[in-house]
Amino acid sequence: MQKTLIVANWKSNKTISEGLNWIAEFSQNFKEVTEKEVVLCPSFTLLYPIKQAVKDRNLQIKFGAQDISNFPEGPFTGEVNARQIKEIADYVIIGHSERRKNFKETDEVLFEKVKIAKEASLVPIFCVQNENTLLPPEDLVIAYEPPSSISTSGSSAKEEDPKEVLRIARLLKSKKPNSLILYGGSVDASNVSTFTKLEGISGVLVGGKSLSPKDFLNIYENA
Ligand code: PGA
Repeated sequence: MQKTLIVANWKSNKTISEGLNWIAEFSQNFKEVTEKEVVLCPSFTLLYPIKQAVKDRNLQIKFGAQDISNFPEGPFTGEVNARQIKEIADYVIIGHSERRKNFKETDEVLFEKVKIAKEASLVPIFCVQNENTLLPPEDLVIAYEPPSSISTSGSSAKEEDPKEVLRIARLLKSKKPNSLILYGGSVDASNVSTFTKLEGISGVLVGGKSLSPKDFLNIYENA
């Protein structure tokens, strides 16, 4: 059975000690259920220590990176490559709208990232902003995230209409029948189930509300 994925995108937030505190608090009340899976995506510097803390507590939590180099191992200063990520994580977020906008990542670069991730047996969580976003040829996890619904787009962030999410999910499924579709954009404990209950939606990508262990736990429970 495909588990519902509850993915936490911490973005560029938290130090190691703050991340460890998150795990300590989250683990107090986390009751794993077989039909749901947590995927934590902290910054690179936090991945290893947080994974150790999760292991020590015997928690069933998977890990993802927030980005990946489109180059292999070698003379690429500042890059973190697929093999290094695979040592710690199973997933990698690729093509988030913040990376497309702030780091000018093009479809070409993003497709290279997907290819390199797949070759390393990482599962790409490929973000699409709308129905026109180009999709790479591979099967993957696709997160539909309209930029106007991302909480940090300001007070104007608008909650996406579930009917529109359903329409896009169907469209994506028709283009990529073997891919899983997630929804992301201002997901919280009160709205998560309106998205996860939609046909074709296999989980959520959570930004702002994943930073508090309590909020994220509530999302996990209500999903
Ligand atoms: P949000 O972010 O949940 O804060 O809207 C989602 C995301 O950007 O992945």
